[in-house]
Amino acid sequence: MLIFAHRGASKAAPENTLLAIRKALEMGVDAIEIDVHNIEDQVVVLHDRHVERTTNGKGRIQDISFAYLRTLDAGQGQRIPTLWEVMQCIAGKCTLNIELKGITDIEPIIALVDTALLELGFSIDQFLLSSFDHHILLAFKQRRPQWRIGAVSASCPLKYAQFAQQLNAYSVHLDIHTTNQKFVDDAHARQLQVYVYTVDDLAEMDELQAMGVDGVFTNVPDIAINHLRSKSRS
Ligand code: G3P
Ligand code: CA
Repeated sequence: MLIFAHRGASKAAPENTLLAIRKALEMGVDAIEIDVHNIEDQVVVLHDRHVERTTNGKGRIQDISFAYLRTLDAGQGQRIPTLWEVMQCIAGKCTLNIELKGITDIEPIIALVDTALLELGFSIDQFLLSSFDHHILLAFKQRRPQWRIGAVSASCPLKYAQFAQQLNAYSVHLDIHTTNQKFVDDAHARQLQVYVYTVDDLAEMDELQAMGVDGVFTNVPDIAINHLRSKSRS
């Protein structure tokens, strides 16, 4: 089962910062998940639409400037990174799952991924673009059909994973609250990988693994990796 560092190693360091990315790499994760927004002509890495929860600043991303955003402390002296800085930090050492949150323009992300593929040692299968907004995923798929996309869902639809198959997605990213055996089996029957968020509890991790889930997003990747290793030894 793959271990995704959710917002980086977000228990060990402030979420979605370069420190959280570096710690996740040190822990030996399979993948790192981050959240991104457009601001001016930049793509920046943070979860919320507002900066209050994770920084010492105030305001909505759509109302503030990139210059102001870069002055903010995101915890432990970290600043909000750009997507390019995260890409430079990872540089092909693991998969990067870019969750599209406040994305109003897909072109800057296309340009960044194209450049990262040429300059930073990533292979195409190390990028996974995901979103709750399936229209934006479709737009990426139309521009770059060979890129992997992951359809995020917090519900259990009547037709299970059909929405992801329609998008020609690589994976479905399911909320643990709405994950069940039928959903997992249906996704697998449609040749989709199944990744579940957010799983910090080891008993839940074991249950999901028994269901055949292919990966989990966790805030505690070091604990998850140690747990899976000790299980495979016994
Ligand atoms: O991508 C999986 C998960 O991160 C989605 O929820 O709110 O943590 O971005 P959230
Ligand atoms: Ca996310």
